[in-house]
Amino acid sequence: MARVNPDLIARLRDDLFAAPYTADTVEALWGADAASALRRGQREPARRAVSSTTAPVGTLATAFVLGLPVAAPRLEAALPSLGVDGASALGLVRLDGDSAVPLLDLRPHAFVDALGAGSWWIASDLGEVALRHAIPENHVLGVGGASLTLAALMVGDKVDSVLDLGTGCGIQALHAARHAKRVVATDISERALELARFNAALNGVATIEFRSGSLYEPVAGERFDRIVSNPPFVITPRSEQVPSYEYRDGGLVGDALVASVISEAAQHLAPGGVAQLLGNWEYRDGVDAFDRVAGWLEHSGLDAWIVEREVQDPALYAETWIRDGGILPRTDEFDVLYDSWLDDFAERGVTGIGFGYVALRRPAAGAATLRRLERLHGGLGNNPAGLGVQVAATLAAHDAQEALTDAALAATALVVAADVTEERHYWPGDEDPTVMDLRQGGGFGRTYPLGTALAAVVGACDGELALGAICSAVAHLLEVDEGELLAEVLPGVRELLVTGFLRL
Ligand SMILES: C[S@@+](CC[C@H](N)C(=O)[O-])C[C@H]1O[C@@H](n2cnc3c(N)ncnc32)[C@H](O)[C@@H]1O
Repeated sequence: MARVNPDLIARLRDDLFAAPYTADTVEALWGADAASALRRGQREPARRAVSSTTAPVGTLATAFVLGLPVAAPRLEAALPSLGVDGASALGLVRLDGDSAVPLLDLRPHAFVDALGAGSWWIASDLGEVALRHAIPENHVLGVGGASLTLAALMVGDKVDSVLDLGTGCGIQALHAARHAKRVVATDISERALELARFNAALNGVATIEFRSGSLYEPVAGERFDRIVSNPPFVITPRSEQVPSYEYRDGGLVGDALVASVISEAAQHLAPGGVAQLLGNWEYRDGVDAFDRVAGWLEHSGLDAWIVEREVQDPALYAETWIRDGGILPRTDEFDVLYDSWLDDFAERGVTGIGFGYVALRRPAAGAATLRRLERLHGGLGNNPAGLGVQVAATLAAHDAQEALTDAALAATALVVAADVTEERHYWPGDEDPTVMDLRQGGGFGRTYPLGTALAAVVGACDGELALGAICSAVAHLLEVDEGELLAEVLPGVRELLVTGFLRL
C-alpha cells in the first residue's frame, strides 16, 4: 500500500519533475504504435522500445507503467533524491536481491479541462498487464475510460464544495479541487483512500478531505454545491463464485446501487447544486429503463437530465465485464461466470443494459422544471476542453428559455451557434430539398431535423431581428398565417436553444 510520508513524497515529486516524467516524454520514448498496443493490453512493443534506454524516464516508465523489475542502481539513478530506500518506504517497490520490483502503477496524466491544460502523476494498483494474471478483488483502478468521461463532463465553474463519492485513486477529486474551495472524497476501500491521499500529496493538492464509508454515509446531514461520482455501477451476480471487485461492484442486486446514488442525491445538494454521475440501468421485460430511472427521481424535487450513450444486450455486457476482471474467454472459469451472469439477468427479466450520463440539479428556488431523458447513442462533437462547458450551457439555456413566455421569446433576437452547419439532401433534379438537418460540430454532436418554416427561421437568426419579426417575414413568404407559424416553430426553437444550436 502507498504510504503518505510528506517528506519522501516531496523528494519523489522533485525526481519526477527532473526526469522529466511526463505523458509526452513517455509517449516519445516508445512511440504511438507501442502506446496503442499498451492500450490494448500488450506491453511487448513498449518493452522492446525502452530496453536500450538508460534515461531516467525509461527506467520510471519500465517500472511504473510496464510493471517490470529494474536493477536497483538504475532506479537509484532515476530517483536521485528519493533513492531506492525511499521508494521502498513509500510502498512503490520492494527489493528482491539487486532488483527493484514495482508494487504500484505510477504514471503521468495530462489533461485539458475548462480551466486549461494540466498534468498530474497518478498512483494506482498494478493492472493485469503488469501482474500477468487477473486483478484481485480489492484492486484500485487508475485513470480509465469512465474516469476520463466523467472528468470531461464535470461542470467547472467556481464553487465552495464538491463531494466525490467513490474516489478510487482520487482523479475526480483532483479535477474538482481545480474549481472548488473544498472537496470531500469518500470510498469504502481504505486502500483506495490511501492511494488517493498519496496522489493529492504528490500533486500538491491540500484542499481534499478523505473520508471512509459507504455511499452518502460519511456525509450524513451535509450538502454540497457539486456531487461527482463514477460509482461502482457494474451489474454483478450476487453469487459466491463470482468475484466482487470493489472498484466496480457496489455489492447490490442489479442497478440498485445507481438507484441509491441518484435517489439520495437530493438530500446532499445545496440549493442550485449539481450532481453528475455515470450509471448503468436495466431494461426489464416490458419496462423501459427510462421509466425505472424516472421512478428513482420521483419525489426528489430535482431537475434531471439523463443521456443514455449505449445499450448492450445481457450476453455482451457479461462478456465485457468478465473480461475486464482479467478472466480470459474460452476458459472454464469464464464460462462458469458467464452462466452466472446470464442467470442473474434472466431472474429479473433483463433484456438490455443502458449506460450513460446523469446530471441532477436542486433548483435554487421553486419546483424542478427540467426532466430530460434522452438517447444519444452516436458519436459526440469535438470538445477539446471536455463536455462540461456544454453541460453548464445546457442547464443555463434551459433556465433562460424557461423564464421567457412565448411572447417574450418572440421579442428576443437569437443567433445560430458558431459550430452549427445545415445539411440538405435533394432528389436528383429537384429544386427543393427532401431532407434538411442542422448539425452540431461540438457538444453532443447532435443532428436536428428541420421543416420548411423552422429552416427559414433559423437561417435568418443573425442576432439582429427579433424571432417574432423573422416569423412574420417567413409567414409572408410562405403565404401562411403569422400566428400559426410562430406557434409551429416555437417548440423547435426552444429545443434548439436548450441543445445549443441557437443562443439568446
Ligand atoms: C469505478 S471506481 C471510480 C474511481 C474514481 N472515482 C474514478 O472516477 O476513476 C468506483 C469507486 O467506488 C468505490 N466504492 C465501491 N462501493 C462503494 C460504496 N458503497 N460507497 C462508496 N464508494 C464505493 C470503489 O472502491 C471505487 O474506488
